[in-house]
Amino acid sequence: MVQQRLPEQGKILEIGCGPGSFAENLEGRDLTCLDPIPAMLSVAEPRVNEKRLSRGYSKATFVEGTAESLPFEDCSFDAVCTLFSFRDWYDKPKGLSEVLRVLKPGGKIVIVDPAKINRIHGLLGYLYMRVWVGSYARIICKQKEHPWKWLTKTYVHFGTTKHYEKMMKETGFKNVKSKLIFPGMATIWEGTK
Ligand SMILES: C[S@@+](CC[C@H](N)C(=O)[O-])C[C@H]1O[C@@H](n2cnc3c(N)ncnc32)[C@H](O)[C@@H]1O
Repeated sequence: MVQQRLPEQGKILEIGCGPGSFAENLEGRDLTCLDPIPAMLSVAEPRVNEKRLSRGYSKATFVEGTAESLPFEDCSFDAVCTLFSFRDWYDKPKGLSEVLRVLKPGGKIVIVDPAKINRIHGLLGYLYMRVWVGSYARIICKQKEHPWKWLTKTYVHFGTTKHYEKMMKETGFKNVKSKLIFPGMATIWEGTK
């Protein structure tokens, strides 16, 4: 779904690559993965690069850093994607303006994160995470204080889909649009420089 929205050629940056679950499946492209946590990068790098080399693609580059202070020159990338990381950016307008800076003219941003259409949808999402995901997490982790609690917490503080569309436009992105991903738990936002 994200892959089809990225250009087939050119330089791609993934912000908040985590352990590399998305990056390892990205076909081809000249890929750079960024994350602020060194432990994430040390899991992602061998995982992603072993798979890329086995498929005949060049190795991806791994860089430590945050969205709010991207360690790249202006106009370096053809596209930037970020999956389930945007909600954790501590300064979203700053992160988006950094993305705009490092994109080439006409370059694209693709964001995937939880969907929150309005307060009722937000409440349903909260209940789904708290009750359904939380129950599974307690069983699997065999403890009350499981790490998925943070997912519910970050979701509660996350804004609506329209709010981030507006933020992207205010940052200077053009052709901004968003789409709810079935069955309604995630949104995909797109925009161009
Ligand atoms: C759920 S993981 C992302 C998973 C990844 N996209 C994948 O497909 O495997 C979220 C990641 O965002 C990173 N992150 C949190 N705050 C960030 C920030 N301000 N800038 C860049 N990355 C950030 C975290 O370190 C974490 O690794």
